[in-house]
Amino acid sequence: MSETEGSVCMRNAATRRAGTLARHLVIKDEATGKQVNVKVSEGNTFKASDLKPLGVRSYDPGYTNTAAVKSSISYIDGGKGILRYRGYPIEELAEGASFLDVAHLVLYGELPNQKQSAEWESLIMQNSVIPKGVENAIAALPHNAHPMSALVVGLSSLGSFYPEANPAFAGSGVYKSSIVQDQQIARILGNAPAIAAAAYHLRTGKKLPQPKAGLSYAENFLYMLDSNGDVNYRPNPKLSRALDVLFLLHAEHEMNCSTAACRHLASSGVDVFTSVAGAVGALYGPLHGGANEAVLRMLERIGSVQNIPAFLQGVKDKKEKLFGFGHRVYKNFDPRAKIIRKIVDEVFATTGKDPLIEVAEALQNAALADEYFVKRKLYPNVDFFSGLIYRAMGFPPEFFTCLFAVPRISGWLAHWRESLVDPDTKILRPQQDYQGVWLRHYVPLNKRSSSQSQLFGPVPVTNEKKRQLQGTYTS
Ligand SMILES: CC(C)(COP(=O)(O)OP(=O)(O)OC[C@H]1O[C@@H](n2cnc3c(N)ncnc32)[C@H](O)[C@@H]1OP(=O)(O)O)[C@@H](O)C(=O)NCCC(=O)NCCS
Repeated sequence: MSETEGSVCMRNAATRRAGTLARHLVIKDEATGKQVNVKVSEGNTFKASDLKPLGVRSYDPGYTNTAAVKSSISYIDGGKGILRYRGYPIEELAEGASFLDVAHLVLYGELPNQKQSAEWESLIMQNSVIPKGVENAIAALPHNAHPMSALVVGLSSLGSFYPEANPAFAGSGVYKSSIVQDQQIARILGNAPAIAAAAYHLRTGKKLPQPKAGLSYAENFLYMLDSNGDVNYRPNPKLSRALDVLFLLHAEHEMNCSTAACRHLASSGVDVFTSVAGAVGALYGPLHGGANEAVLRMLERIGSVQNIPAFLQGVKDKKEKLFGFGHRVYKNFDPRAKIIRKIVDEVFATTGKDPLIEVAEALQNAALADEYFVKRKLYPNVDFFSGLIYRAMGFPPEFFTCLFAVPRISGWLAHWRESLVDPDTKILRPQQDYQGVWLRHYVPLNKRSSSQSQLFGPVPVTNEKKRQLQGTYTS
């Protein structure tokens, strides 16, 4: 920034203190002559509140350059395409670990040993039956309700069964106990597959089977979708393992929109069930978790390889979006997308090939070679190929985001747990830059101008209303 009069200029300074390099920024307001020395942390952050003496605030719509929390759960290098959970590269975890062990890692910081792993699995299993009232709340929804809205209903209603774990009843200190924390984690993680299965069965009209002991997390989930309650049923092991790997790839992804939503809600001190339900709401959106569903609809609409150039032209003309491409953090291949591409072939070997894979491959290659995408560093993200796997496995598109939400619950809960012990945790309350009318005075209704412009347009009459109005009443 040039040091012109009236601007705030910044100079990056480095001084050696006690043998270590301590960085600080010297920020001076040229208009007032006021200056602050702002300390830069090892993570290249400075405290926005250090700018207060200058009377300025940072404006960061979309939080593109703002760290709202310090976290030790996952690490992303978007330029290099790196994702690590608690230090472990995602590729290594996908090769050998189970989803539940990874959830333990994400939540508690360590992969469990053999004994701990068995105990953890048994704890989650013991918490896998949902209360009848939650099942009924979901069953009360229309059969064509979106499964994500059913998931919100299921998770928020689950909390009402545990008033002793609700700060509104039990007091704001209730989560100080690690026993209470762990109980809620086991309940939510344990119940999530059954809640999602209940959402699935809204459409099938089938009864939700009881979970079955001795199955992996993903296997049990498939069992509740497909067994019809027949205890002899066993899901296909290749498909169960593929789903388990997909689950672990989706377990955690630092401060994305839904995790930020979870931490935001939790910062108010609300119960963890409501915080997680709110995060599901954020994940539902097509710019976030809903993208896998949007990708499949997009591929279906494109239909064949020869329609790709016209579609990409529409994207470049900003008439539409290439779903499954681009990421706020990754400016390179999303490492999860590479792993998922390999799983596609493994799943197709069992289910048969989905013809849309050819459209997806050709679309990916055309976009990667196109100046528009190259210049903006837009690469395939986690959602680009996952929809094809889900469809090959027989899931309806509306259900895809649930398959993202169920495992991501482990990440949300890990952030919730981390926030409880973080001394910097405060209620999250961003500021605004007010742009409205400065001050005016109240005018009584009968004195307000009749020429005032219309505030809202006419409400369109739907065909349903028209049809109803054409009917007659017999006296
Ligand atoms: C993920 C996403 C929301 C990130 O958004 P963001 O960090 O705010 O990035 P921006 O929207 O500022 O994008 C920067 C530029 O790339 C373009 N862009 C980003 N993603 C694009 C996409 N998928 N298709 C077409 N153009 C895209 C934007 O239009 C913008 O272009 P401009 O510089 O000409 O204005 C965005 O890439 C997106 O909408 N992707 C599609 C949805 C998706 O797959 N989401 C799942 C994410 S895991």
